[in-house]
Amino acid sequence: VTVYLVGAGPGDPQLLTLRAARLLAHADVVVHDALVSPAILELARPDAEMIDVGKRAGRSSTQPLINALLVELGHTHACVVRLKGGDPLVFGRGGEESVALTDAGIDHEIIPGISSAFAAPAAAGIPVTHRGISGAVTVITGHRQPGEADIDWHALARVGGTIVVLMGVERRASIAEALMSGGLPADTPVAAIERATTSTQSVVRTTLAILGAQHIATPAVLIIGAVAALNLTAPELHSLVTQ
Ligand SMILES: C[S@@+](CC[C@H](N)C(=O)[O-])C[C@H]1O[C@@H](n2cnc3c(N)ncnc32)[C@H](O)[C@@H]1O
Repeated sequence: VTVYLVGAGPGDPQLLTLRAARLLAHADVVVHDALVSPAILELARPDAEMIDVGKRAGRSSTQPLINALLVELGHTHACVVRLKGGDPLVFGRGGEESVALTDAGIDHEIIPGISSAFAAPAAAGIPVTHRGISGAVTVITGHRQPGEADIDWHALARVGGTIVVLMGVERRASIAEALMSGGLPADTPVAAIERATTSTQSVVRTTLAILGAQHIATPAVLIIGAVAALNLTAPELHSLVTQ
């Protein structure tokens, strides 16, 4: 194997897997996104080449260019780590990179990471499933590519359980609108977990009715459903979930 598609977890370096930390310490070159924290990048070998392909780097790296870079590095280096926030295959475009590497005949391996989809609610004391309250959880992106068909939000409103939205901050007003017109009550609890698992984590608690009017900083994960009113780290709420 020459290229490893590695999940960096949600932010806190302690939530990196042992395998990810060991590969970082070993790699000749690390290709990473903007969301990966400096504390995690510090775990790389001191002489490793670090390449930031994050959109925020101002280089506007497009996915085909990143794919081509990984193929090139796979040919020229013994150990390449492609480091991505959360899990590489959860809205991380790791699948596209894996296909490009396979097409080029380059051995690679996928190292799972803890996704923000589940780490963010857990870090805020919100159980995405809880017996008697939520028996399903749907993870969805709020972002749409131009020309891409929109999610069937009305169908989603009928599924029940918890809805976890990644990349949903920008379109939060229209997402809330669509879920309410699909039948979810206006007072459905919503929690937005900003910068989850980092030292600046912050949680905004609201409802679908006023989600659009709330200021929410990115990156954030939106949790929609009855569980979003819970906080297992606040003892006064324990009676609610043990009834
Ligand atoms: C392109 S997706 C990548 C998701 C990633 N592969 C994962 O499994 O977490 C980026 C989105 O993940 C969410 N996200 C990632 N890290 C986060 C964090 N520390 N706190 C809150 N949201 C986060 C946000 O919704 C952000 O818009």
